[in-house]
Amino acid sequence: MSVKAAIIGATGHVGRTVVRLLADHRDAEVVYTYSRTQGPEGDFNAADFVFLTMPHGSAQQYLPEVADRRVLDASVDHRTTWTYGIPELFAERIANSTQVAGPGCYATAVILGAAPICDLVQRLYVVADSGISGAGKDASEIESTRPYKVGNAHFQLGEMKHVLGTERILFVPKVLESVYRGICATLIVPGLQDRMNDAVEAIRMAYDAAPFVDVVEEPATAHVNGTNRVEIGLHPMADGELIINVAIDNLMKGAGGQAVQNMNLMCGLPETAGLA
Ligand SMILES: NC(=O)c1ccc[n+]([C@@H]2O[C@H](COP(=O)([O-])OP(=O)(O)OC[C@H]3O[C@@H](n4cnc5c(N)ncnc54)[C@H](OP(=O)(O)O)[C@@H]3O)[C@@H](O)[C@H]2O)c1
Repeated sequence: MSVKAAIIGATGHVGRTVVRLLADHRDAEVVYTYSRTQGPEGDFNAADFVFLTMPHGSAQQYLPEVADRRVLDASVDHRTTWTYGIPELFAERIANSTQVAGPGCYATAVILGAAPICDLVQRLYVVADSGISGAGKDASEIESTRPYKVGNAHFQLGEMKHVLGTERILFVPKVLESVYRGICATLIVPGLQDRMNDAVEAIRMAYDAAPFVDVVEEPATAHVNGTNRVEIGLHPMADGELIINVAIDNLMKGAGGQAVQNMNLMCGLPETAGLA
């Protein structure tokens, strides 16, 4: 039976991505959309799955209405209280959950890069570039690159620390204001002199069977944009630092694509349905 989806926040970057993906999904259809400026379209009562794709702080008001349905909240609001929706790490938990929190886009890249070597990480340095669409529909493109919330101030640092189980992360996000989509995160893990081979092998092995993650020579957002794929590049340095580059499309694997991947698991569908 087909999943009948409602999308609240349907006119934003993430909402529109979900609407587009579900239009081509064999086992799901959109039965209702809503945003404040667009108003309601379709029949909410027909929905058995709800995507909340609104800015943070907005989901709460809709929770009573969606209480008896499966829900995916793309905002930060439930990332430490609901099941955390990175299927490559938590597939079984997601499949058994009715409420899943979509991870942040930076956090998706950083966590996928570092999770397989959590136990080897003493300290993690991250510099990550993001296209302007990471900042929502009100941000506009200009010729500029800008570090912001440098060091330990970005709101997605909390979920990174929570999932990776370490406080020792320094994070420098940078917005590429002339680029529309895509995130390329560079993670530097020092102190791996004696464990470098273990670390490289752990990351390679972790994603062997993952349909959307590939370890490649040179990750690039151009290779993954428009897809739900993740590219990871590994550069072991002679002095014991492992440099891990991770490229994703923030609107796909970093948001809407991963939301559909989660919906698939929550509804007993093949993980790749509508995303291949
Ligand atoms: N952009 C990304 O790369 C990305 C990645 C991962 C997670 N996220 C998260 O996903 C969420 C959506 O992000 P976005 O980039 O799609 O934002 P966006 O482009 O600004 O879109 C927000 C959507 O929510 C609607 N909205 C706002 N307040 C609402 C309310 N009270 N009730 C109903 N609809 C409301 C907006 O339309 P109206 O103004 O017409 O109501 C719009 O459709 C955010 O929480 C964001 O942090 C974004």
